[in-house]
Amino acid sequence: MTIHTDLSRVNFDDENSNTSNNPSFDSVLSVRLSRRSALFGSLGSVATAALGGISLSACGGGDDVAPTPVPTPAPAEKLLGFAAVAKSLEDKVNVPIGYTASVIYALGDPLRSATADYKNDGSDSDFENRAGDHHDGMEWFGLGADGKAQATSTNRGLLAMNHEATTDELRSSFFIHADGGISTLPRPAAETDKEVAIHGISVVEVKKSSEGKWSYIKDSAFNFRLTPWSDVELSGPLRGHALAITKYSNSAVKTRGTINNCGTGKSPWGSFLTGEENWAGYFSRATGDDAARADKSVVALKRYSSLQGGSSRHGWETAGADDKYQRFNISKTGVLVDGGDDYRNELNTFGYIVEIDAYDKSRLAKKRSALGRFAHESAVFGKAEVGKPLAVYMGDDSRGEYIYKFVSDAVWDAADATPTNRMAAGDKYLDKGRLYVAKFNADGKGEWIELAMSNAAIASYATYKFADHADICVNTRLAADAVGATKMDRPEWCSVNPKNGEVYYALTNNSNRRIEPASSSQMAPNSANPRVYSDIKGASSTQTGNPNGHILRLKEDAAGAAATGFSWDVYLFGAESSASASVINLSNLTGDQDFSSPDGLAFSPSTGICWIQTDDGAYTDVSNCMMLAALPGAVGDGAKKTLSYTKADGSKLTVDTYVGKAATVDTLKRFLVGPAACEITGLAETPDGKALFVNIQHPGETTAMANIADPTKYSSRWPSNAGYGAGERPRSATIVITKNDGGRIGS
Ligand code: FEO
Ligand code: CA
Ligand code: CA
Ligand code: CA
Repeated sequence: MTIHTDLSRVNFDDENSNTSNNPSFDSVLSVRLSRRSALFGSLGSVATAALGGISLSACGGGDDVAPTPVPTPAPAEKLLGFAAVAKSLEDKVNVPIGYTASVIYALGDPLRSATADYKNDGSDSDFENRAGDHHDGMEWFGLGADGKAQATSTNRGLLAMNHEATTDELRSSFFIHADGGISTLPRPAAETDKEVAIHGISVVEVKKSSEGKWSYIKDSAFNFRLTPWSDVELSGPLRGHALAITKYSNSAVKTRGTINNCGTGKSPWGSFLTGEENWAGYFSRATGDDAARADKSVVALKRYSSLQGGSSRHGWETAGADDKYQRFNISKTGVLVDGGDDYRNELNTFGYIVEIDAYDKSRLAKKRSALGRFAHESAVFGKAEVGKPLAVYMGDDSRGEYIYKFVSDAVWDAADATPTNRMAAGDKYLDKGRLYVAKFNADGKGEWIELAMSNAAIASYATYKFADHADICVNTRLAADAVGATKMDRPEWCSVNPKNGEVYYALTNNSNRRIEPASSSQMAPNSANPRVYSDIKGASSTQTGNPNGHILRLKEDAAGAAATGFSWDVYLFGAESSASASVINLSNLTGDQDFSSPDGLAFSPSTGICWIQTDDGAYTDVSNCMMLAALPGAVGDGAKKTLSYTKADGSKLTVDTYVGKAATVDTLKRFLVGPAACEITGLAETPDGKALFVNIQHPGETTAMANIADPTKYSSRWPSNAGYGAGERPRSATIVITKNDGGRIGS
């Protein structure tokens, strides 16, 4: 979700609670480019993209029949052979000539026949049986003709996807209420019930017809929703632990639901992984709760941005006395010492990677606490090698937070690729292992520091007294602070290059980088996050820090998954193509390549293309959010670069960084631009690479709730303006992209 500048909308998505002293190598350098040169680089930034990408609009729903694939002869394939799509502010999906994008699954679409078609006028209910809102991360799970899991299937499968959040203003998810809803407290129960139910995940069957047209199957027995009210098991070190005792589960073995699910992952045994991101904002703590607790939990809550007296994102805790609402009030109200009569520990049951069996809705989802608790994005496995442990790479998306790796105790057994019980395989590989945090050094190397009680810096940490390993798994950020991890520019998704196993991380942006930090929430540049500059948006809005983000990659040392050392460089720096190449546009992006705020990131297992998706607020005066196709090289293919900044007193701060080899027209190109006020996120692909599913999240997000009755004032009317569905209110949706000649996507 982008950062709102409208102060009536409290921003619960870009928290910054890392006030630890962990530097960012300010000792090593400090940059300083003069403000003048930075600004100069960004002026006149309305770059004109090559017009080769005269684009086809996405067509919705029923009207658009994809041409029948041409079976033979197969056209000669050149990856990135398409003409780049130009930057655009149009309220539609633009894809290259020769491609078709079609809407297949939008907010409110029913998952069974008994649920009415979506009217899209705010009168709809029964969201437990409809597509949720804010489609986000997504994975493909193939189905054979026999209705069983089949990894090679290319025309029938399940899409498992996150419904991260909702488009809201002053608490109300206004597009799903007839008149925009009641945004003051107390929130009505009927509105709350709908708002809760549009969160979580959905699993939906999709199928390609004999004419080559994809659609979702309304009555598939596989379809299901998991919402913040569904039963979920706690697994790993947290299971049965005192930190998870609640009124709902005195034995600390379960909680209700998952919330604010963003990035995803797919395990080598075929289960779905979903990351809980900005969950803390959904829960409220009363004024005076710090004093009522008077224990170390106050330190932990603050580190995760839960402040006493703060309002919750939606005010659901005010919707009634029913326990299902009261669980969103995490104040200490009970008298039991262990917390078994209230929800003071409820927040400790959120913030995890959750494992779900997309093929079997009867199995309870499990929160894999061994992988740590933070603002999780994707969870991506390194290459599984028989006899070796599995590595899972993860990031914590908040300003100044960290990059993590989990290494399983169990070593990979190829027989587990097709297990009889996927959740049991998850128990084997994801409940026991070592958790590491990354430290990036100025020499292009880095280290994984284990977060364990055996580390004296953790065992004797003065800020927070850790009790045991479960405490580290729950309060991971504090443990990472203790060991001096590197503060990053908001780690979003990561992905592993199938060609060489290198791990790519999108670092989306950071408005708190400063040459000379003036508060504990600001941080100096470091080698892995080296840029501090100013950019002008629109007529006069100045954005400072690292407004455009970058993509970092790392290569493990010889030990592979279990390595504790790595080398790294910055694959690409996001920038406007007209920005200064010496201080901002360090990757020399052209108008066909320039982007800002990389977020979704996924390598295609078929083509090896690295798909880069944006969730931007910095360059959106020039273009809506987008998706680019890339064919990267490898760590170390570029050169060292030293940035020099001037401090207020005239002294210099220099930062050494490592810039990957500049992209060419053959290795980086814009592929898609989305409708107005959306984010492009989520990517799933059939194994033949010929159908690519992408999510369009929150089109029209900037619409003012006061304009709910006047569609002409919506900032987007997609996908109804593309012919999909009833009503004119904008809807998050899944699109499928196919190539008109039947070829692979990205060729
Ligand atoms: Fe939900 Fe950090 O993106
Ligand atoms: Ca700009
Ligand atoms: Ca995201
Ligand atoms: Ca984002």
